[in-house]
Amino acid sequence: MNHKNILITGGAGFIGSHVVRLFVNKYPDYHIFNLDKLTYAGNLANLKDIEDRPNYTFVKADIADLDEMRRIIKDNKIDGIIHLAAESHVDRSIKDPFTFARTNVMGTLALLQAAKEYWDTLPEKYEGKLFYHISTDEVYGALELTNPEGVESPFTTTASSSQHHLAFGTEFFLETTKYNPHSPYSASKASSDHFVRAYHDTYGMPTLVTNCSNNYGPYQFPEKLIPLFINNIRHGKPLPVYGKGENVRDWLFVEDHARAIDLIFHKGKVAETYNIGGFNEWKNIDLIKVIIKTVDRLLGNPEGHSEKLITYVTDRLGHDMRYAIDSRKLQRELGWEPSLQFEEGIEKTVRWYLDNQEWMDHITSGAYQQYYDDMYSNR
Ligand code: NAD
Ligand code: TYD
Repeated sequence: MNHKNILITGGAGFIGSHVVRLFVNKYPDYHIFNLDKLTYAGNLANLKDIEDRPNYTFVKADIADLDEMRRIIKDNKIDGIIHLAAESHVDRSIKDPFTFARTNVMGTLALLQAAKEYWDTLPEKYEGKLFYHISTDEVYGALELTNPEGVESPFTTTASSSQHHLAFGTEFFLETTKYNPHSPYSASKASSDHFVRAYHDTYGMPTLVTNCSNNYGPYQFPEKLIPLFINNIRHGKPLPVYGKGENVRDWLFVEDHARAIDLIFHKGKVAETYNIGGFNEWKNIDLIKVIIKTVDRLLGNPEGHSEKLITYVTDRLGHDMRYAIDSRKLQRELGWEPSLQFEEGIEKTVRWYLDNQEWMDHITSGAYQQYYDDMYSNR
């Protein structure tokens, strides 16, 4: 495939900004169009280092605006789409499910339809084209916590940690696992995944879906666990742990996700699904203790200093107990695996947030204040 004009949606968000940066730097012969509505989660400061590159253009638009999608895709002769734009925070979806249906379902549908209409007019039609949809492991539902203390994980990668290599249950999400979403967020993502596959199965459009586990790293909006807690520790604010802190997530460093997206965009098989995971399960409370320890060390506080900030709060409604991905298909077929051990990844991440306080302050004050206050007023 020789893609020239690549549309990346949601490129001003957390994962999207890493994907845009990787593509702009790695592929000078491609033109990268970053399409983003700049909702509260979109922040062009995430892309300061590449914004003047000749192979990069930012386009402000709403994916749910079908006419705009038609115009943008046609005018820019888009060959490949990597679709990340979405409403992405479970807690917000519980408060406002309609916005999630609008963007995640109707927006994805508008993008699919606009791409189809443009590609249908071309002599080569779908040849060399790809609609790559980025989804989440949350569509598979929740796994049980059958080993609450954790047992040795059955999976190994070169990045496996020697100190913490645990599985908290015997089941894992596979590409064949039946969809069973529980939150409005995961229900909207599941629906969008079905539409993407329907455009392949019905019209023969070249589509592909990947389902990834929880990402962490620089530029994540501080409503999500890791950046929120780093920032609160720095300011001596309470750390709101939902329920008993026993829920388990599988964490992947965001640059490893971006590398997987690059590989799959170029080498993945059309109509396939690939799971992307960190082989890295953590119980929330254990992860929180690692974050506290790392932040305290880097700030020069005595060990355990910020543990007093841990505050158990009412659990999230319908809180999924455990997510754990089996991404051996991607490992086997395309040779991808995480490159960073969690200890290295978390160290890099904490350092980044502590070194980029200005980025954080811009979000937690001023222009973003209203969104931030809305989110935290009911805690
Ligand atoms: P994010 O919330 O940080 O960024 C989303 C971006 O989409 C923002 O820049 C926002 O402005 C933009 N956007 C929202 N609505 C839009 C609309 N109507 N039109 C155009 N742009 C719009 O999200 P993220 O964490 O970077 O996630 C990106 C994608 O990856 C999402 O599809 C998400 O479901 C998926 N995903 C995320 C994770 C994770 O851990 N963060 C894990 C697996 C999959
Ligand atoms: P989050 O970062 O919101 O990702 P997701 O819900 O998509 O997995 O949350 C990660 C885990 O941390 C999840 O089990 C909920 C929990 N959590 C808290 O305990 N407190 C918080 O303030 C937040 C934001 C999350």
